[in-house]
Formats: sequence, C-alpha cells, structure tokens
Amino acid sequence: TDLTPFTTLALPGRAAHYLKITDPGQLTVSAPGERRFVLGGGSNLVLTGDFPGRVLHMAIAGKRLLHEDAEARYVEAGAGENWHDFVQWTLAQGWPGLENLSLIPGTVGAAPVQNIGAYGLEVGERLASVSAWDFEKQAFFTVDREHCRFAYRDSLFKQQGWHLDGRVAIVAVVFRLPKAWRANIGYADLRQELAGRGIAEPGARDVADAVIAVRRRKLPDPAVTPNAGSFFHNPVVDRQIAAALLAAHPALPHYPQTDGRVKLAAGWLIEQAGWKGKALGPVGMYEKQALVLVNHGGATGADVARTMAAVQAAVREKFAVELSPEPVFL
Ligand code: EPU
Repeated sequence: TDLTPFTTLALPGRAAHYLKITDPGQLTVSAPGERRFVLGGGSNLVLTGDFPGRVLHMAIAGKRLLHEDAEARYVEAGAGENWHDFVQWTLAQGWPGLENLSLIPGTVGAAPVQNIGAYGLEVGERLASVSAWDFEKQAFFTVDREHCRFAYRDSLFKQQGWHLDGRVAIVAVVFRLPKAWRANIGYADLRQELAGRGIAEPGARDVADAVIAVRRRKLPDPAVTPNAGSFFHNPVVDRQIAAALLAAHPALPHYPQTDGRVKLAAGWLIEQAGWKGKALGPVGMYEKQALVLVNHGGATGADVARTMAAVQAAVREKFAVELSPEPVFL
C-alpha cells in the first residue's frame, strides 16, 4: 500500500501490510512481535522508504460528553477524529478550552504523543486520560493525566518509545475542559491579531479565528506545499549558554523555562544561518517561517535528510546550538 497520500510531506514509501482501524477490536489482528507502525494523520512523519511491517491507520471515530461536574466537562473522542474538526465541534457545543490549538493538523490520538502545543497552550493542560491498546500484552490500559509525563513536545508515550516501535496504539482520549474560562492570549502574534480586529475582550470563537488567521498567514498548507509543520524543536539550553548567545545576539527570541533553562526560537536561528527560503535540491525551509521544512516536489526521505543535516550544520557553525528534528522517521 502506498503511504504517500496518508502523509503531509508527500515522500515516497509503501507498507508491506496496511489496515485501516475503525474499531478498537481490530487491533488484535497484529500479533505480539509483529513489526508495525501506528499511523494517525501523517502530519509529523518522514517516510524514509518502504516499511516491511504492518501499518495500522487509526480511524476510530466518535466524540461525546462523558460527564460534567461543577468545575469541568469531560469530553471523549476517538483516536481517528481529525484534531481541528474536534476542536471546532467542542467550540460549537459552547465548550471552550481548546481554541488555541485550532488548525493543528493530525488526529486526536496523535495529540498526546508529542503533547501538541501552540499559542500558549499544550494539549496536556486540557487532558484527563488516554486509553490505549498494548499489542504485546494484548490488553487495553488507561493513563491518567498525572502519569502522562507531559513536557514540551514530549510525553510518556514518546519517552517509552512506544510510538516508534509500534508497541501501543492510542484508541481514545478524554479531555477536561474547565468551566471557568479566560481567554489565553499572552502569545504576541495572537494579541496583535485580535487588536488588529478591534477585539478587546475575545470569546473562545474569536481566539480560534485569530489562531486560524495567524497560522494561515505563517504556515504552508500541506495540500499546496507538502510539509510536516515545525521540523525542529525549539532548543532548550542552560542559562549560561543562553546568556552568552544573547550577549552576542540580543534580538534572539527566547523564553525562560520554569527549571531555569531557556528555550530559543529555532526559526530565528535558522533564518540567521541563512536558511529561510533556501533549498538544497527539492527540500528547503519555508520562506515565511524558517522552522518549517517543505517539499518543493518529488523529494525522497534522503533529500529530507540532506537538507536537515545542512540546516543543523549551519546553525551549529554559527551558534554552536544543536537542533533536533521534531517528526518521527519511518
Ligand atoms: N522567527 C524568526 N524567523 C523565522 C521563524 C520564526 O525570526 O523564520 C521568530 C519569530 O519572529 C518569533 C519566534 O521566532 O519571534 C517564534 O516564532 P513563532 O511564533 O512562529 O513560533 P515557533 O517557535 O517558530 C512554535 C511551535 C509551533 C507553534 C508556534 C506558535 C515548536 C517546535 N513550534 O513555533 O508549532 O504553532 O510556536 O505557538 O515549538 C509545530 O509544532 O508543527 C508547530 C507549527
């Protein structure tokens, strides 16, 4: 089965076996020890070639209000639900809380794996529990939020390597949407967008619309220009390293972390290293957001690896900072 149409970077690659999963019961077809990969929306994936195992394409649907109490609503969604559509559905029900994460590509089931985040919110902050199937134990299990070890672009699911080795498939996620709501508009781009629209006290729908507008302006539409969103993590470095870099480059956008370390804007580093809008063969860094790697047409996994290495080398040479890729390589 050709995997290219199921991914947003549009690289070539085929799976020896492929199964679309619409019901959790189908997961038992993959026996313990089988080589497998669990595929969601394919928006954070680099195909490096053909995959000799079985690809399980998660398409489990369903979304409902599980229960509510005085403080919050608990909303459950199947792993295969489209993330953006799910967020818009919660807003249409009058349940705010996920609006800052509008227009992120991918599925509900993939969201907790790398703890998707944007515009001042990470999904882990709105999550109650994750239910998953363990292919080796042939059993379902549930992880509550406090055991998910959420961090910047990280979670238990990534730390355990469960995603890469296909050990576990997330089947459903329960979100906790607090009833006490305040617009989360600390992010500069978002504040500017709302100010430009003359909105002083935005509702959740206003915030979603502003996020959608900012993303459309800055990020390439995968249907037009194949990409996988941010291609590198924003590097988090020790305070001393950040201080030295800032002394030499005062304009470097940076975000102090609660642990004393400092997160640096990789997009800025890449732009200053000369890679904004630059390409090597068919793969380059996007002209409006240097952190996004784009396939200008006909690229392979090897082309991606070449551009990735060249960008890492340029940033290393200029800033002595190591960039690590964000997507999964299959
Ligand atoms: N910048 C540049 N040049 C560039 C790109 C960015 O100078 O080419 C500067 C910007 O001017 C800004 C700073 O770098 O001062 C940060 O840029 P931006 O606000 O665009 O966000 P980002 O740090 O590049 C992160 C996430 C995005 C998310 C945005 C908004 C990561 C790896 N990426 O990008 O997530 O949408 O913040 O919250 O953390 C994704 O993961 O796929 C993704 C798109």
